[in-house]
This record gives sequence, C-alpha cells and structure tokens, in this order.
Amino acid sequence: MFALLTPALLAAVLLLCLWTLRKVRLIHLLAHEVRDQAASAPATLFRQLEAYDGLQRELRLDRSLPPTRGWAGSPDFLLELARHVQAAQPQVVVECSSGASTIVLARCLQLQGTGQVYSLEHDPVYAAQTRAELARHGLSQWAQVIEAPLRMHQLAGEHWPWYAAERLPAGLAIDLLVIDGPPQATGTQARYPAGPLLFPQLASGAAVFLDDAARRDEQAILRRWREEFPSLRQSLLACEKGCARLRNDHCARPAPQETRTDAILAPAD
Ligand SMILES: C[S@@+](CC[C@H](N)C(=O)[O-])C[C@H]1O[C@@H](n2cnc3c(N)ncnc32)[C@H](O)[C@@H]1O
Repeated sequence: MFALLTPALLAAVLLLCLWTLRKVRLIHLLAHEVRDQAASAPATLFRQLEAYDGLQRELRLDRSLPPTRGWAGSPDFLLELARHVQAAQPQVVVECSSGASTIVLARCLQLQGTGQVYSLEHDPVYAAQTRAELARHGLSQWAQVIEAPLRMHQLAGEHWPWYAAERLPAGLAIDLLVIDGPPQATGTQARYPAGPLLFPQLASGAAVFLDDAARRDEQAILRRWREEFPSLRQSLLACEKGCARLRNDHCARPAPQETRTDAILAPAD
C-alpha cells in the first residue's frame, strides 16, 4: 500500500509545483504588462490632448466636439482625417458609422467650401444623435447621415452582416472612405465587406482610412484586402487604436455579384 502511495504522492506534489510555477510566471508577466501600461498611460493621454487641441485649432470650432473616448474615433485618428482632407480636398466622402468623425469631416468640407459626407449608420438612435450634433455645429448641409440597417450580404460564398449600402446615392465616385463600423460585436471581421462592396467605387487617387487597425480582427481584414486589392497601397499611421491608410492609385476590380437577401438585422449592442 505504502509502496503505491509514495509515487502517487510524489506525482501529485510535482504537479502542484508545476501548476504553482505556471501561475507565478503568469502573475510575473501580468505585473510587467501593468507596469508598462502605467508607464505609457500619461504619454498616451497627453498625445490625445495634443491631438484634441490640434483639432479645435485647425477646425476653428466654436462648439465642443462630441466625446472622443470609448466608441468614438480618438482625437489622433480624427486629426489624421482632418489633415488628409486639408491636403487632398476630397469632394465625395463616405464613412461607415457616424459620430464625432462625421462632425470633423463635415467641418473640413465646410472650410474647403465644397464636398459632401455620406455617413452610413445602422443604429437609428446614433443616426439621430449625429444629425443633432451636425445641426448644433451648423454643419447639416455638409453631411447626410444615411440610416442603413445591417443586412446579410453574400460575398464569395459567405454571409456577412453589413450596411444596406444601396441607400447611398447611386454612382458615387468616392474620394475618401472612412471605415469605423460596424462595431466588432456585429460579427467576425465585421468591416471586411467595405472592401468588396465599396472599393470598386473608389475614385482614382482616393484614400481609405480604417480605424482600430491595431486589433487582430482588423489586421486579418487588412491581410484579406491586400490579397484581393493588391493595387491599394497600405500603410499604418501611429494612432492610439491603430489606423491603416490605403491609397488607390487605381482600383479596377468589378463590383461583386451579390445575392440580395431582405433580412435586416437589429442594431447591435
Ligand atoms: C466605433 S463607433 C463609431 C464612431 C464614429 N465613427 C465616431 O467617430 O464617433 C461604431 C458604431 O457604434 C455605435 N456606437 C457609438 N457609440 C456607442 C456606444 N456608446 N455604445 C454602443 N454603440 C455605440 C454607433 O452605431 C456607431 O455607428
């Protein structure tokens, strides 16, 4: 009996030691991560304050922007958009998801004196909120928030919940496409369909900005777009949540043949 118990006991003690060592290692790694985050947090926050101040000055706003934390585009991302508009002077701007970005883009077009923002928004509550913000800033004539519920799109044999983008005016030649929706919670690689469904409408010389490019999902989307749209040059901009910029030297991919389904999906949480 003892002879059997001793090896079993030894094995149990060994397993306990291994388990404890593994836990200690995990705690050690976590402590390093927390220390690194704590060290970089003030610099990250300062960068956002700088970018916010830059936005207020460059856009000469006399009203406050909507909140730019959490779900909204971060100030550094919004400043990249503003600088791009100032340099490239796009006429047709399409964005996937409305909010602070709509105000920034509309104000840029107002300052340049021409152009129109078409903002796809799947959630009626946020659509109304963005329209109210546009009105508060006196920018309603520069941007249209288009309620476009998520519906199923069939692309390359797969089904994707994405905006009912047929609600955009027909035949747009898009100079600037800003992709910050739909939210990740609506599905895996939720923003991928913007490629096959909107890139064929990019004008020559157009640019695409993808927010949240630091996320694994967005990186997978970027890899997929690189394979499917090799003529779009991708680069990464140093923004808090990651920002990818794609440039269209020319994009002549035909629009995909899509099977229409009429199911409209409920707004996501
Ligand atoms: C990443 S947010 C879009 C942000 C927008 N481009 C901006 O700069 O403010 C994507 C979508 O999330 C939804 N949304 C925005 N704020 C939200 C919140 N606080 N909670 C839940 N959904 C939100 C809206 O439908 C929006 O279109």
